[in-house]
Amino acid sequence: MTSFPQFPQSDGLVGSTAIVTGASRGFGRAIATALSAAGAHVVGVARGSSALDELRDEVGDTFTAVAADAADPATASRLLDEYRPRTLVLCAGAAPQMAPLQDQTWESFSQNWNMDVAQAFHWTRYALRRPLAPGITVIAMSSGAAVKGSPLSGGYAGAKSTVRFITSYAAMESQRGGLGIDFVSVLPQLTPATDLGAAAVAAYAARQGDDIATYLSGLGPALTPEQAGKAIADLAAGPDRDQDAYLLTAAGLSPVQH
Ligand SMILES: NC(=O)c1ccc[n+]([C@@H]2O[C@H](COP(=O)([O-])OP(=O)(O)OC[C@H]3O[C@@H](n4cnc5c(N)ncnc54)[C@H](OP(=O)(O)O)[C@@H]3O)[C@@H](O)[C@H]2O)c1
Repeated sequence: MTSFPQFPQSDGLVGSTAIVTGASRGFGRAIATALSAAGAHVVGVARGSSALDELRDEVGDTFTAVAADAADPATASRLLDEYRPRTLVLCAGAAPQMAPLQDQTWESFSQNWNMDVAQAFHWTRYALRRPLAPGITVIAMSSGAAVKGSPLSGGYAGAKSTVRFITSYAAMESQRGGLGIDFVSVLPQLTPATDLGAAAVAAYAARQGDDIATYLSGLGPALTPEQAGKAIADLAAGPDRDQDAYLLTAAGLSPVQH
């Protein structure tokens, strides 16, 4: 692993700054809360401001709310230059339209490309070209669907696979250029515990002709946002990080097998 003298590991995240996109609900909210509990000042990004303001009331002065479109390249450059984070978590994602291929339009099929992939591309590209200071960790939320596919969510699985590729390409470029920027992708399992996940679980259960409880019993223990938050905060703190992609389940992080 590259060592990053600017951000001593022994200090953990205390006093550092983290940017979390998608911080207003679901995994992003839990990640922002966990990073804050670990001592980071968190800049939370989402388009809607009211849920971010609620989170700020809950977390306090160590949370800064920014209402912005994370897929816009101007958001990436502005926030990275303004806050110079040690940790960047690209968690925002579009909720895919749950429908079989023939019921998708190109607009619905491509929405995760226009949001999730565009976000990964713009923030990662800016991090490399600027370049950001050595010692930064960039964590991008991909999905277990990137490995397994997701036949009811249009271009979602392909987009999330591309997020993983972008992150691994960036890791290579960082190493080649000696930039000291660490890029990691995380592939969470499907969970009903967020708005996005609940809609997907309902669609797959209906497709199988199962009720939701029966469908979920086949998935194993459900990943909670709190587990995701802790896993990402631990990953960001960094001492045990040795992979460029991890699966995330209720059992925690594990290397992606292929
Ligand atoms: N839940 C699962 O089962 C699951 C499984 C695998 C991977 N994931 C991935 O994990 C990430 C978080 O998912 P989640 O389930 O927590 O989703 P969620 O509950 O729907 O939350 C999505 C978050 O992203 C924000 N967002 C969406 N578009 C945005 C944009 N253009 N700019 C800024 N913020 C934006 C939303 O706020 P606004 O709408 O206010 O902008 C919200 O804060 C996503 O990347 C998702 O694909 C989820």
